[in-house]
Amino acid sequence: MKLLVLTGAGVSADSGLATFRGSQGLWEGHRVEDVASPEGWRRDPSLVWRFYQMRRAALSTVQPNAAHLALAALEARCRQRGAEFRLVTQNVDDLHERAGSKPLHMHGELAWLRCERCGTRVRDLEHLDAECFVPCASCRAPRLRPDIVWFGEMVPSAEECLRLAAACTHFLAIGTSGAVYPAAGLIDVARRAGARVLVQSLDEPSNLAGVDEFHPGRAVEVVPVLCRALAQLLP
Ligand code: APR
Repeated sequence: MKLLVLTGAGVSADSGLATFRGSQGLWEGHRVEDVASPEGWRRDPSLVWRFYQMRRAALSTVQPNAAHLALAALEARCRQRGAEFRLVTQNVDDLHERAGSKPLHMHGELAWLRCERCGTRVRDLEHLDAECFVPCASCRAPRLRPDIVWFGEMVPSAEECLRLAAACTHFLAIGTSGAVYPAAGLIDVARRAGARVLVQSLDEPSNLAGVDEFHPGRAVEVVPVLCRALAQLLP
């Protein structure tokens, strides 16, 4: 068994982090291109920095929920039984790590900052002042940027994710609306490769197909049940 799990904002919604496209969507009050694009950063770095500093500071106020924990337990179980398990997330929070998983972050991580001048990356959740930039300790550039993949930027792990999707036997998508590519295309690659496809979300995602098994509901309630069922399939 080769299991690939793709998570989106819905898996962290029950921990209290806003999703993007709901009525309480994270972008509310901001235009996406103002706070999550390289052009926005060049035009008004203070606005972008304040937006991300708020999100970075919010990490310490939330905890992994039952869905994050169930996925970490399933990963440990797969490892014990010699089955392959990979977790790919579009989320930039660190809740999967704090639950014990080792996810691949397609869209970057709030906990990391990066220097556009010299490329240095630093893990930093200490400097959370919304009004102060963090300079680069390596090259002295005046400000590091959030290590987030913004709209219009390349997704560095895209090829690896597509390879994983093409090779999996079971694909589980959780809490993602299927609106943002390349992540939204992984399900199709897995389907074409003949994988069994399970989809968990509150609302039906736009890329759901008739052959998929759709498990509607809140992630905290449904994901632990799905993880137990998948564990039963292990050798
Ligand atoms: N449990 C399960 N699913 C939920 C829950 C919940 N408690 N709450 C919301 N959802 C579902 C919604 O029904 C929706 O389908 O989670 C999905 C969230 O969709 P989006 O807000 O579009 O989030 P996501 O798919 O992760 O967005 C992808 O878009 O803006 C970018 O970079 C950002 O990584 C993000 C990407």
